[in-house]
Amino acid sequence: MTVGISEKQKLKASVLKRVFTFTAPYKNKFYLSLLLAVFLAFIAPIRPLLIQLTINEGLKNETASRFINGPGGFIIEITILQVLILLIETLARFYFTFTTASMGQSVVKDLRVATYKKITQLNLSEFDKTPIGTLTTRTINDIESINDIFSDGLIPIIADLLSIVSVLTYMFWTDWKLTLICLAPFPILMVATYFFKEAVNKSFIKVRNAVANLNAFVQEHITGMNIVQTFVAEKREQGKFRAINKEHRNANIKAIFAYSVFFPVVELVSAFSISLLVWWGAKDALQLPQENASHIAGTITAFILCISLLFRPLRVIADKFNVLQMGIIASERVFKVLDSENVMPDNGKIQSGHLTGKLEFKNVSFAYTPGNPVLKNISFTVNPGQTLAIVGHTGSGKTSIINLINRLYSINSGQILADGKPLEDYALHFLRSRIGVVLQDVFLFSGSIKDNISLHNDQITQEQIEAAAKWVGLHPFIERLPNGYNQNVMERGSMLSIGQRQLISFARALLYNPSILILDEATSSVDTESEMLIQKAIEALVSGRTSIIIAHRLSTIRKADKILVLDKGELLEMGNHEELMRQKGAYFNLYKMQFEKGAAAGV
Ligand SMILES: Nc1ncnc2c1ncn2[C@@H]1O[C@H](COP(=O)(O)OP(=O)(O)OP(=O)(O)O)[C@@H](O)[C@H]1O
Ligand SMILES: [Mg+2]
Repeated sequence: MTVGISEKQKLKASVLKRVFTFTAPYKNKFYLSLLLAVFLAFIAPIRPLLIQLTINEGLKNETASRFINGPGGFIIEITILQVLILLIETLARFYFTFTTASMGQSVVKDLRVATYKKITQLNLSEFDKTPIGTLTTRTINDIESINDIFSDGLIPIIADLLSIVSVLTYMFWTDWKLTLICLAPFPILMVATYFFKEAVNKSFIKVRNAVANLNAFVQEHITGMNIVQTFVAEKREQGKFRAINKEHRNANIKAIFAYSVFFPVVELVSAFSISLLVWWGAKDALQLPQENASHIAGTITAFILCISLLFRPLRVIADKFNVLQMGIIASERVFKVLDSENVMPDNGKIQSGHLTGKLEFKNVSFAYTPGNPVLKNISFTVNPGQTLAIVGHTGSGKTSIINLINRLYSINSGQILADGKPLEDYALHFLRSRIGVVLQDVFLFSGSIKDNISLHNDQITQEQIEAAAKWVGLHPFIERLPNGYNQNVMERGSMLSIGQRQLISFARALLYNPSILILDEATSSVDTESEMLIQKAIEALVSGRTSIIIAHRLSTIRKADKILVLDKGELLEMGNHEELMRQKGAYFNLYKMQFEKGAAAGV
């Protein structure tokens, strides 16, 4: 309840304005809801007015005969009118609630789709900075709060304020003195409302934080349940979970306390207001002649209804302001995501055509975080059809190289050329569709094996999927599954072995028949049979196309046309296996350390 317009409030107004721009496609609903709000406000005082008329006119001597004369009499007419007004009001209220809420849902749908679309366009570096839970909260919970702006927030507040103004106008017009008497206890209500609003607001912010923590905790721990169970960490984790839940409960209890105090106070003030009204009115009536006294009776009865009409919205208006405030905070957060400029520039003109697969790095340097270079001045060329193997210790920058080829991150200096042209000259969509990637950690989506191979691409036929699976040697395994290609792999492919998951990702890459194939070999060792399958699959994958393989298998490395040896982001050596062995440098040492044991075991 601050007076004057501060910068913050201006900002809030602009956020709110922006939320309302999303109603543009639902203009009709928006105007209808405003129209209904005005209409409801307009008819709010009609029922008290009719009651007033019933008593005042009905009790007057000249109409008394009509009053008693049964059907068609004044009282019947006015009662029918009352019922009619009530029906119209109910109907209007129904349309109002329905329209605002359904408009909110439509806006929510659009906002969610827009936010998700934006998230899919974000530069990967954004995901390094933002926890997954946060982005989930933006797209799910925060947008839900924006819905509340429509169903419980601004429009209902406008409607309530209008009807308060309307009822008050009627009251002042009828009897301003009596109205002032009724309003005497209102300052108490204002003070109570202020404290209630502040208290509830504070606890709601706490509740929301606790809910976000709960979400993050449950999500992370269910994902890592194998670690929790293997390391017998259940008790410790339960303790942490209990603490977060305690926070959640305490914050909620504070809110409940505020509600439990506030509502009786409102009732009390309302009762006080009515008592004042009756007391003052009765006192007046006693001093007046008979005919004027009946006049007062009508006004008092009408005013009692008016007081309930005033208190009903006032009771919830503080709540609605909180909802509005929450909605605005949520909108700000969602708009921050929508406004993020951390998007990979996509101005390339080349949209189609054939890539021969020549790839060139020219003095490329790169850092994920400024001042922390991960690749330093790297230059190499892979000719069409050649296989390049990258070797190096863990953390030496191998995966980073392929992140750059795919333009998942932007380089800091130097140039990467595909077929002699800078990567930026290609439309992102085209470039990425010509590069097939098999990542170090295979990610599978919940769904069928078939969908995980085709990634829901309708242009890929069942025959093509099966051909790819046969090519990588996965077909016999899939055939043995109860549901074959339609077998559900469950979340993240948990029912498949690591080797099988890799083969699925091979099939996935193969189906797109890429000009350049990138393979980040997983370090995890698989059993000999799978190993052979994978070996064969890799050979199938690389044959006849430019391939870059981050290799851990000696056999793959030996067959490569060129080997890059990376160390802490620097290119130490380059050449084929024999050349590098002859040099007796870093590769030679690496080979001695890492591969001799493997070679002896025949891997
Ligand atoms: N998203 C990221 N944000 C910041 N730093 C990163 C990120 N990814 C990797 N790094 C850092 O960059 C360096 C190179 O990582 P990279 O993943 O390229 O190594 P790698 O050679 O593939 O290792 P491995 O053999 O273990 O897969 C590491 O020091 C790592 O800490
Ligand atoms: Mg890696």
